[in-house]
Amino acid sequence: MKTAICYYSRHHGNTLKVLEAMAQEGEIHLIDVTARQTVQLMEYDCIGFASGIYGFEFQKAVVEFARQYLPAGKPVFFIYTYGGVKGTGSKAVAEIANAKGCSILGEFSCKGYDTFGPFKMVGGIAKGHPDTQDLDNARRFFRQIQEGLEEKQ
Ligand SMILES: Cc1cc2nc3c(=O)[nH]c(=O)nc-3n(C[C@H](O)[C@H](O)[C@H](O)COP(=O)(O)O)c2cc1C
Repeated sequence: MKTAICYYSRHHGNTLKVLEAMAQEGEIHLIDVTARQTVQLMEYDCIGFASGIYGFEFQKAVVEFARQYLPAGKPVFFIYTYGGVKGTGSKAVAEIANAKGCSILGEFSCKGYDTFGPFKMVGGIAKGHPDTQDLDNARRFFRQIQEGLEEKQ
């Protein structure tokens, strides 16, 4: 099963750590949505969208990437990390997937070290996250996504 995960991870690389753990479980191509590239998502069996939460939602570049490049009907899943208040989480990207007739396989989220604004003064929140338990949970999530898709094939 060939999977692409389109992601944005800047603050502390928290989301990327989660994706790299998942990538140990199968053939995953990680696509940084801010990198200049030719994008062809048709060739993948399923597509993930991943982001840190910024201002209570997915980073806008990920949402726009889904709007532009997600092929209709592709199975999708979502991943995000957040400091404390996930807000709308994956809602915006899920709406795009729904509008394109894509089946949503699930979502994974966990806390991610956050030193934004005033949190910096107290040494940050969600320190140490994603931790080994978060990464184990992420790997398990991706195995379940894979198993679910293989059963359908
Ligand atoms: C500008 C900015 C805004 C943020 N907004 C939120 C937020 O609304 N809710 C929250 O729980 N965390 C918020 N965070 C914390 C990040 O979601 C968290 O640290 C996340 O793990 C960052 O992912 P990344 O390291 O992959 O970019 C914010 C961080 C930054 C830098």
